[in-house]
Formats: sequence, C-alpha cells, structure tokens
Amino acid sequence: MTQPNSRETAARSSGSRVIPVEVFDLVIFGGTGDLALRKILPALYRRFIAGQIPAGTRLIGAARTDHDATEYRTLVAQALTEHAPDAGTETTRAAFLAMLDYVMVDALGDTGWAELAARMTPGRVQAFYFSVAPSLFGALAMRLHQHGMADAGARIVVEKPFGRDQQTAEALNRDLAQHFREGQIYRIDHYLGKETVQNLMAIRFGNMLFEPLWNAQYVDHIQITVAETVGVAGRGDYYDRSGAMRDMVQNHLMQLLCLIAMEPPARFEPNAVRDEKLKVIRALDPVAPGDIVRGQYLADGEAPGYGDDVGNPASLTESFVALKVLVSNWRWAGTPFYLRTGKRLRARTSEIAVVFKETPHSIFGAEAGQHRNILTIRLQPNEGIDLGVTIKAPGPGGMRLVDVPLDMTFSEALGPAAGAAADAYERLIMDVIRGNQTLFMRGDEVVAAWAWTDPMIASWEGVAPLPYDAGSAGPDEALALMHRDGRRWREIRL
Ligand code: BG6
Repeated sequence: MTQPNSRETAARSSGSRVIPVEVFDLVIFGGTGDLALRKILPALYRRFIAGQIPAGTRLIGAARTDHDATEYRTLVAQALTEHAPDAGTETTRAAFLAMLDYVMVDALGDTGWAELAARMTPGRVQAFYFSVAPSLFGALAMRLHQHGMADAGARIVVEKPFGRDQQTAEALNRDLAQHFREGQIYRIDHYLGKETVQNLMAIRFGNMLFEPLWNAQYVDHIQITVAETVGVAGRGDYYDRSGAMRDMVQNHLMQLLCLIAMEPPARFEPNAVRDEKLKVIRALDPVAPGDIVRGQYLADGEAPGYGDDVGNPASLTESFVALKVLVSNWRWAGTPFYLRTGKRLRARTSEIAVVFKETPHSIFGAEAGQHRNILTIRLQPNEGIDLGVTIKAPGPGGMRLVDVPLDMTFSEALGPAAGAAADAYERLIMDVIRGNQTLFMRGDEVVAAWAWTDPMIASWEGVAPLPYDAGSAGPDEALALMHRDGRRWREIRL
C-alpha cells in the first residue's frame, strides 16, 4: 500500500473545521466608522459565510449619526463590496445584512441608550465593541452599566491605542474596571490574531526541536522587522501624535518579542500565557539613547515627505524606529533583540529571524566560510517559516558548504485553505464570543509595556528624527546599530 506523502497528510489534517459559536448580540460603537466598515464588518461577514455565525445573531451598529436600519444596511453593503468583494454570494450577503440593526447613540448623553438596551436579547452572549476614540471608553462603560447592559456575561472589546503612556493607560484600566471585571475586557492587538504569530507558539511549544536551543547559549541574536511601504497620509492627525514607537512598538512589536522570549506557559490558557508575557516585559532593560535610532521619511518624486503627509512640516515625530533591546533574565542575558519598524520602506514585509550562533569549531577549515542557522518566521507576505541549514554544495570539488532554506510556506504545505487563513479580526472577534482571552492583552501587560516605552519617548523630547529616503531600509544609522556589534540586518525585500 502506498503511504500518503507528508504534504498530503498535512493537507488532510489541516481540513478546516468550523465550529459555530453560540448565537450572540454584538453592538459596534463607532459602527459607521472606518475600522468598523473596513475591518470588523467584513470579518464578521467572512465568518458568517464560513458557517461560524448562526442565524438569529444580531449585529447592532451604534453611532451618533442618524440612520435607520435600512440606511445602515446600505452603508455596510457598500463596505462589503469594497472590502470583501469576492466573498459569498448575493444570498449570503442578503442574509448577513438582515442580521444588522442600527441605533443612534450618544456616548456622552442620554440619547439612544434605553432603545439600545431594549434591543438586547436576554440570556445570550452580549458583546460591545468600542471602535471609538479611547477618550470615550469610560463614558461607554458607564452608560452600559447604567442601562443594565454590564451584567456578568457581557464583554467589551477595546481597540488600540490603549492610552498614550503609562498614566493614561492606568486611567483607562480604572475607568473600565469600575463597571467590568478584567475577565470581561478584551483589549485587541490585531497582531495576536495573525496566523503566523500563533504559529510561533506552536513551533516553539509543539516541537522538541527548537526549545532546547531557544536561549542565550545557542541564539546569537533575534531580529524583528515590521516594514511597511505605505506612508501616513489620511491618518496624519493620529499618527503625528503617536509616532512609530506608540503606534507599533509598544503594542505589536512588543507582543512579538514577548511570544519569542517567554518561558513555556504550563497550559495554553489566557492567564498562563499572559503571566509569561508580562514577565518578559518586566525583564526588559531600559534602552539607552545610543541604542535607539529614529527616522522620518523624505519626499520621493510625487510622493510628499512625512511632514507634508501629516500637515506639520516641523514635526519631530518618528515614522521609523530601530532599537537594541536586552532581556535581563536567565534565558536571554547576552542575546540582544533588534527591533525595527517604519513607514515608506522598501517592501511590506514582517518577519522575525532567530539567528543561531556559529558552530563552536569548524571541522571544514577556514575556506568553508562561516555559517549559521537562521529560523525565519514570516508574518507577511507569504506566511511561513524557513530554517536555513548548512549543507555540502553538490558536485565534486571538495567540501564546499552552502546555506539552503528548509522552507515551509504554509500555503504550499497545507494547500489553498492555509493561503486563505482567516484575517486577524475574524479570529479575534470569534474568540470574544467564545470567551477566550488568550490572544488579548491584559491590563497589567499594557501598563508594563508603557512603563518600558515612556522613558524612551521622554528621552528624545525635542530631538529631530533622522531623515531617510522613501523606499529605503531606514536611516543608515539603523544599519550602524547592528554593524557596531558585528551583525547585519536582514534585507527588507519581498
Ligand atoms: C496598526 C497601525 O495598528 O497596524 C498602523 O496603527 C499599521 O499604522 C498597521 O499600518 C499594520 O498592520 P498590518 O496588519 O497591516 O501589519
């Protein structure tokens, strides 16, 4: 009998299994806003098509604008055409739109609250998505409580930015805690919903191969790069008040760092995982000013530079940052983590590279060159993992060594289903309904991340970032940050 090859086995066992969630009521505050129309509703629609959202579920848009349910459905239909153009059929679309309702609500006044309360269905999961400015989080929590919608089963979902420093994050935590328990609060970091980010945990803790080597004794350094080609046009107001540090490092890159560096939790459970992440954040050394490089992109032909994009030519906000980070604990002492992220860079690519040390001695002599294993975890594009291994160059001619990748591009190994992996929002919203907080940030984690970030931000007050060319890899000083340690960034390319 022929054995199935490994690719067939992988494809078969990956056959996606959709387990429907319970019927639920979801209220989206800011339901007419950009995030709701671009991300949240298309994600819900895709889960509906996949059969995960049962009939009878109600999705209630809530915002200050005066709409009736029919107008809201038209608005959402347009958004689906734009943001989920290939998904579903006319029939699925009509069935999805029929689940939608709309209530005009004023977060800061009494308008609409009694009506909203009357629309909720007693006895089912009730979730409230705060897709609004953080300044409204406290008011929304209070009104939900006042109007009897904050019972023990209710869940609230809050978007980033969760504060802009430690103090404001603590204040937000306090405001929410007045009306909701920590177990009811789902702080979204959409990076935690990405397929490969979760795969990081599977790779580390589901294999015997890596974990014994996952420490300072064997790992030379780790690089985390999140490079984007887009600029900040269109959201300049928000971005210019945040910069790359607040917008990306404090949350997304920090989460990646935590998942790479954390100790194995005893179980894959929300608090077990979050306790371990918190320990990593608390073990981070303060970053010295000499280990920080900030940049701002320049104009490029037609495309304006950062200052013009945000309408503030004298802006001192960074659109790029690179850091050398040290984790002071037994596992990582002596192994630096290099982090960088920026806008208008050469390519849109996000990856984590675990660069192992060289072998202690080369039996092949100096002419064989230096080789090291690199485990690369690609978040986007082409999600996948590859392990660079050293082998003999084929053919006669002696023992020449070459590095080749053992490549595992998920869509190749697991078939097209893996290529169409659910968007981060799809997974995260379903987790809210299932009541699983593993992929959400706990209040103390967010505060600890700000406590580490704040001194860096304070240290560059009034200092101009370095200019860099659009389409480059950031300022040259970022390259020097590694060169002076005898290391090199991996290339930013597709
Ligand atoms: C958001 C940031 O949280 O993440 C944006 O505010 C950034 O500035 C985006 O572009 C990147 O997300 P992704 O999923 O496209 O890598």
